[in-house]
Amino acid sequence: MLHRLHAPLRHLLALDQLPRATIEALLDRAQTLRPRALTGDPAYRPLAGCTLANLFFEASTRTRCSFQLAAARLGADVLNVDMATSSARKGESMADTLATLEAMGVTLFSIRHSLDGVVAELAAVCAPTTRLINAGDGRSHHPTQGLLDMLTIRQHKGLDFSHLKIAILGDIKHSRVARSDLHALRALGAGEIALAAPVTLLPDAATAAGCSVQASADDAVRDADVIITLRLQRERMEEGLVPSLEAFYSDWGLSPQRLQLARNDAIVMHPGPMNRGVEIANEVADGPQSVIREQVSNGVAVRMAVLEALAATKADDQS
Ligand code: NCD
Repeated sequence: MLHRLHAPLRHLLALDQLPRATIEALLDRAQTLRPRALTGDPAYRPLAGCTLANLFFEASTRTRCSFQLAAARLGADVLNVDMATSSARKGESMADTLATLEAMGVTLFSIRHSLDGVVAELAAVCAPTTRLINAGDGRSHHPTQGLLDMLTIRQHKGLDFSHLKIAILGDIKHSRVARSDLHALRALGAGEIALAAPVTLLPDAATAAGCSVQASADDAVRDADVIITLRLQRERMEEGLVPSLEAFYSDWGLSPQRLQLARNDAIVMHPGPMNRGVEIANEVADGPQSVIREQVSNGVAVRMAVLEALAATKADDQS
């Protein structure tokens, strides 16, 4: 029997379209699924007979593997389509690739692409029974990462985010993780969100809505309950946005000294992959306040919850 959300979910494209109640229902479900996410349960196969295709046009370790594990732990079949050797190389459009896989009975897709808005465009042309999950498009959205980050914060800080100070440090401008985190944090009523980045890496005003932009990383980290560090996304950058990696670390990186400004029980997060010694020190990434591995574990549970919710939505339900 498939677990259904109170409100049907046709696709998961972004978190800004989701009401707070839907985000909370997905997080509650992920928390319930966590034991099954970690060890698997051969008797639990609600998605038996369904197929998930992972279409990743950009590099990924965590996200693709955790979609694969999440689907397998629900009893689904999984296709990892290697886009580097697929017909996309022969010029096939993404819509045709999708239609080809739909013709083989694939109904669930997780899609990552370097172009903003691609997954939403595919959602407009796919079959009514198809369910799409945005696994990261350009710098726009990464909704499952946003959800797994919220689940991790909840596990350490409780369900009420209204008293929390959350600091987000580093390359916010190019980060789809930061955008999805910000949508979720606002939806869940986070108390204070402090952003800190060099001016060249600050996001636009719409992205930063409801946040305070701090002049220094120290100001953002001071008394924080949660510190989210972000990868310096050199592949999305024009040259010259940071003077040097050493200067970036010194001004904006999370060093052990800077971490001491936060609350004693502050947690440190990073979506991975990390540039150690650039946005985060080794000692911090591997230290007692780091919850980076827990984020990864939570990724499987969150993706199970999302896959279940999408598979349970009937083709004629409203999205
Ligand atoms: C992120 C991504 O690809 O957006 N990684 C991830 O999914 N965990 C962050 C990044 O690449 O820096």
